[in-house]
Amino acid sequence: MKIEERIKKLKEEKNAVILAHNYQPKEIQKIADFLGDSLELCIKAKETDADIIVFCGVDFMGESAKILNPEKKVLIPEIEGTQCPMAHQLPPEIIKQYRKLYPEAPLVVYVNTTAETKALADITCTSANADKIVNSLKEDLVLFGPDNNLAYFVKKRTEKKVIAIPEGGGCYVHKKFTLDDLKKLKRKYPNAKVLIHPECNPELQDHADHIASTSGILKIVLNSEDEEFIIGTEVGMINRLEIELEKIGKKKKLIPLRKDAICNEMKKITLEKLEKCLLEEKYEIKLDKEVIKKAKIAIEKMLEVK
Ligand code: 13P
Ligand code: SF4
Repeated sequence: MKIEERIKKLKEEKNAVILAHNYQPKEIQKIADFLGDSLELCIKAKETDADIIVFCGVDFMGESAKILNPEKKVLIPEIEGTQCPMAHQLPPEIIKQYRKLYPEAPLVVYVNTTAETKALADITCTSANADKIVNSLKEDLVLFGPDNNLAYFVKKRTEKKVIAIPEGGGCYVHKKFTLDDLKKLKRKYPNAKVLIHPECNPELQDHADHIASTSGILKIVLNSEDEEFIIGTEVGMINRLEIELEKIGKKKKLIPLRKDAICNEMKKITLEKLEKCLLEEKYEIKLDKEVIKKAKIAIEKMLEVK
């Protein structure tokens, strides 16, 4: 039996569901039950009736699935090196300092944070709903972290005063893109539409045709009449776009803004590790009960915002 078939068999025997993020390696994307951006995967995790959730992504994504399903077994196929560096930039100590400085301001945290950080937040957001979430708050002054570039996006799209915390917070992959990278590609592909993730630097957001989450990018590519796109996000997204275009028998030119925009943490998962994970039911995500209770309130508040 091929490894893909063995994984499918194990998955059925254990009533497990495989959720995978859009940046996962292609072979993982192909075997997943659901692919998506952080928001879609949170919703899937909340809705599933599987006994085991296997999360192919980085640490905070598996944690969010556990927070939404405390009674279920949530597994991640690799524990070494799958920590999103940005998710660790806003630890509780820093939050406490800012809370003292701005006691009236609600704290909005990106889902790219640890469970402990979410437990201290008023509400979470993802790249797909950050502006909507901030707009849903009654206060005019808002603390927002840890991604300063996503905070820039929110500032532009809302009337709120947004304080980005901590200073310099952001994703090492998306910060790599420069305006020079974009200008070079635009000279070569003048008709290509520029799709930029809101984790990218402000100057790139300012030159985008669209700023969108990974699944937002997917919707634009699938639904627009345009044939050429410059993709300003992690390169794994190209895999997801190719898979979906193939399903509808279409071909479009997809140009990565940088070929070296690779999230190393997302690439640690392999088919072999996924099989072992199902077989041995590890690595199980375990979180403190109090942390789950508080973090769940912040995530569920986000999911309630229409
Ligand atoms: P999305 O929610 O847009 O998929 O982004 C998650 C992420 O980690 C981007 O770096
Ligand atoms: Fe974290 Fe950046 Fe990787 Fe997204 S691309 S998981 S923000 S390191």
